[in-house]
Amino acid sequence: TSIALQNPSDNSFIKKLQTSGRSLVVFYGSQTGTGEEFAGRLAKEGARYRLKGMVADPEECDMEELVNLKNIPNSLAVFCLATYGEGDPTDNAMEFYEWLQNGDADLSGLTYAVFGLGNKTYEHYNEVAIYVDKRLEELGATRVYDLGLGDDDANIEDDFITWKDKFWPAVCEHFGIEATGEDINMHQYRLEEFEEVPDRVFFGEMARLHSLKNQRPPYDAKNPYLATIKVNRELHQQGDRSCMHIELDIEGSKMRYESGDHLAIYPVNDAALVEKLGRLCGKDLETIFMLINTDEESSKKHPFPCPCSYRTALTHYLDITQNPRTHVLKELAEYCSDEAAKAKLMLMSSTSPEGKALYQSWIIEDNRNIVHVIEDTPSCQPALDHLCELLPRLQPRYYSISSSPKLYPNTVHITAVVVEYDTPTGRHNKGVATTWLKTKIPDPDKEPMLVPVFIRKSQFRLPIKPQTPIIMIGPGTGLAPFRGFIQERDLIRSEDKSVGETILYFGCRKRKEDFLYGDELLGYEKSGSLTLHLAFSRDQQQKVYVTHLLQQHAEEVWRVIGENSGHVYICGDAKTMAFDVRSILAKILQEKGQMTEQQALAYLKKMETQKRYSADVWS
Ligand code: FAD
Ligand code: 2AM
Repeated sequence: TSIALQNPSDNSFIKKLQTSGRSLVVFYGSQTGTGEEFAGRLAKEGARYRLKGMVADPEECDMEELVNLKNIPNSLAVFCLATYGEGDPTDNAMEFYEWLQNGDADLSGLTYAVFGLGNKTYEHYNEVAIYVDKRLEELGATRVYDLGLGDDDANIEDDFITWKDKFWPAVCEHFGIEATGEDINMHQYRLEEFEEVPDRVFFGEMARLHSLKNQRPPYDAKNPYLATIKVNRELHQQGDRSCMHIELDIEGSKMRYESGDHLAIYPVNDAALVEKLGRLCGKDLETIFMLINTDEESSKKHPFPCPCSYRTALTHYLDITQNPRTHVLKELAEYCSDEAAKAKLMLMSSTSPEGKALYQSWIIEDNRNIVHVIEDTPSCQPALDHLCELLPRLQPRYYSISSSPKLYPNTVHITAVVVEYDTPTGRHNKGVATTWLKTKIPDPDKEPMLVPVFIRKSQFRLPIKPQTPIIMIGPGTGLAPFRGFIQERDLIRSEDKSVGETILYFGCRKRKEDFLYGDELLGYEKSGSLTLHLAFSRDQQQKVYVTHLLQQHAEEVWRVIGENSGHVYICGDAKTMAFDVRSILAKILQEKGQMTEQQALAYLKKMETQKRYSADVWS
């Protein structure tokens, strides 16, 4: 396949490198921005080693040009690539990935390194980076330093800086470069503040000015639809936790969905937290400002839509609740008048064992966000515009749609647990999206409650034939997509068509507390649409999980997946649940299907490729 794009000269990264006197290009495959951020940090640090760098989006580049990169002296290509879902590349790296898989370009003379972004909770851990690293070598390229693997389930920042610390010396050795030793706390963006409010000001739009006021389909991540919340009710009957059932109106939006798809929601940050950050930085939040990339070659002119007010940036565009990364701490150190405080921030951003340990305890374990860090470092008053450059973008939150479009073509339902917890420093942290949604209770006497949303298609699908039996395993909010599946199969059954067995394994803490949609599920069971296996983990002395029930019903499992070509679905946030389920299924296949362990695992793999085994898990 060719990945030549329509206007090759615009997409020539080689030309860009040459005209700006650079030799380092850092490509990223990024969905949520972390890969892009890491790429940016590497490109910037290149200056320290006389390798002027540039970040590049493979989707916007003629990647075939990699064969010619060797013509630039001391040239180096680095790839920061994330893996998603079933070992998939990000959307922007898809074409490049396919080109590597299908092509046979001669990459001899190309010098490269790969850093992967993955999550160990998922089975296909970092598969994209592993493949690209191997494939580039197969095609003749020279690996300048070993593949780095970042685990977002543990501490990906630590993985990255540890890798980077060894990567640079390897690069220097390879090219015979001596580090300049210069530190590079330079700004990527130039600030412009407005005395008077300009004509064009953004108020939280993702791309087009006024797109939230003048809504125009098609709706997507750049152009979300403002959906009205019609229903927002509590699903827990008791206890101090909260789970919301929310129905959003999509009538007239022309958005379509299928059971198994995800709804993405753009949340806003807590107003009090935004206010506090403005105060700590000594800035009037109403000031309208703009950040302009000083690198004219970059396709990214601004870090987020601007001009806008600082309040808009902190409310809609920037993540102010994550644990800050080490490079942010390093830049914060510059703003400390107190030497001890400065040294502490510098230490935390270093890769020394003491530095890492301090970062782990003071930032990660104490769970401090940027506001907490500044609050607890009284001599530090950073420039808010610089902070706006350094903080990552606020990401949309995804929810498995818990309704079927066959029953609810005009509404989308979601099932969301409210995130709230206390931290070791005595603070009460609240999840951005869920806390915000919790306040959005519709009232006919008030303005409608509007939420910017878009729908993301998924691979999580019911079998094409309703006769195919299915087993669904979904403890907690993992139930969400299955509610849609069950609604759909129940509807088909009510039309007197034949429907295969529909089996649900649901688990929660207590029957009387968090049995989500209990009445609905028992109703389906009663009418014969559903076989229900319930695990209430805390209703007795010993824990009972869905995994225990699977073992108890080994006969049934074998009948469905071994004898009747049924499908298995797993959904949920329980970290080890998906792994546990897989190993139990493998055991059942061995016992009931007389398979060896190897055969059982191969059987599951085959089910996966046949789309008979699907997982929708998050952590
Ligand atoms: P955030 O502000 O994002 O905070 C969450 C973070 O807080 C966590 O990542 C963790 O770092 C930290 N945290 C949380 N609890 C604690 C604690 N006790 N101690 C210390 N730190 C803690 N969620 C659902 O409820 N229902 C769904 O159907 C659903 N489907 C999903 C489908 C997909 C594909 C994905 C990726 C996620 C799904 N999620 C679902 C999760 C959802 O997207 C959000 O992550 C979740 O609602 C939290 O968002 P938030 O903005 O409220 O919290
Ligand atoms: P617990 O909180 O009592 O440990 C939804 O979160 C349900 O899933 C809860 O009942 C929870 O039990 C249970 N759960 C936790 N870990 C699990 C695992 N590895 N496999 C299956 N269920 C699990």
